[in-house]
Amino acid sequence: MNYRHAFHAGNFADVLKHVVFTLCLEHLNKKPKPYRVLDTHAGIGAYDLAGDEAARSPEWKDGIARVLEAERPADVDRILKPWLDIVRAMNSGKTLTAYPGSPEIARRMTRPDDRIQLCELHEADARTLDKRYALDSRIKVEKRDGYKAMAGVLPPKEKRGVVIVDPPFEHRDEMAHMAEAIKKSLPKWPTGTYIFWRSLKDMWASERFDNGLAEWLFDEGFATPENVLRADLWVRDLGEEGKLPGAGIVVVNPPHTLEADLLILLPWLSSLLRQGEGNGWRLDGALEEEPED
Ligand SMILES: C[S@@+](CC[C@H](N)C(=O)[O-])C[C@H]1O[C@@H](n2cnc3c(N)ncnc32)[C@H](O)[C@@H]1O
Repeated sequence: MNYRHAFHAGNFADVLKHVVFTLCLEHLNKKPKPYRVLDTHAGIGAYDLAGDEAARSPEWKDGIARVLEAERPADVDRILKPWLDIVRAMNSGKTLTAYPGSPEIARRMTRPDDRIQLCELHEADARTLDKRYALDSRIKVEKRDGYKAMAGVLPPKEKRGVVIVDPPFEHRDEMAHMAEAIKKSLPKWPTGTYIFWRSLKDMWASERFDNGLAEWLFDEGFATPENVLRADLWVRDLGEEGKLPGAGIVVVNPPHTLEADLLILLPWLSSLLRQGEGNGWRLDGALEEEPED
């Protein structure tokens, strides 16, 4: 467990993932009925952009910083607003020094009767998280495997909510664990919204995950083309070795407005966050079923 999100907080991949997360929460907030957020790979909750890790790897300068500095068309600004409002609220001065992780986004967007469950396996990170949210009775922090938690705690008693699955991809079999976890949890809670983040470092592995998941969802009757969405963003050629070139999300049971919002947002983000030749984006409103032989 060497991965430290502090080196990557606020980068292009966080931008897409966190905006999608805020849009899902905003949608849940439209109804008064309480809901549950399960964050299976929580990290430490919020990040110090002036800290040692971010100074050594200032990826946020090519992510959140570019978004804040850019001239944003009105429709893009509307989509980014819930996320940017949180970033602004955490940064009172002119310089950007703090960035919200998924737990902090959930904390700030949920209401008094909503509940947040955070899983973090790293000993020190789980302690940091626990301390950070010790005074908020709506938040439960657990030092446990988020995949096992998914299968164990779903469905939530609220019957509404969102699961965000954001693993570090330190191991080659991460996608297999992710696929396994959804196969165990979706039958228990077929109506929940699930956000899966995955890297595009290994296109073969991500295609295998997406197609395998789509095939399983369709075969088991959990998915129609309207309730699976895939959104990817790459900032340089996907074939380039080295730093992460691209990343994206697969959302099961997305808010019905998410696809239209991403269709506006992705081309804008793709050109703003570009780091070299071969940048791009894609949005599949309906994952294709594997063609029959
Ligand atoms: C990409 S970071 C999470 C970032 C966070 N979701 C955010 O958006 O701010 C992944 C985290 O998962 C933790 N982790 C790794 N394997 C885990 C597992 N099986 N269960 C729970 N947490 C795990 C790592 O220690 C790391 O802090």
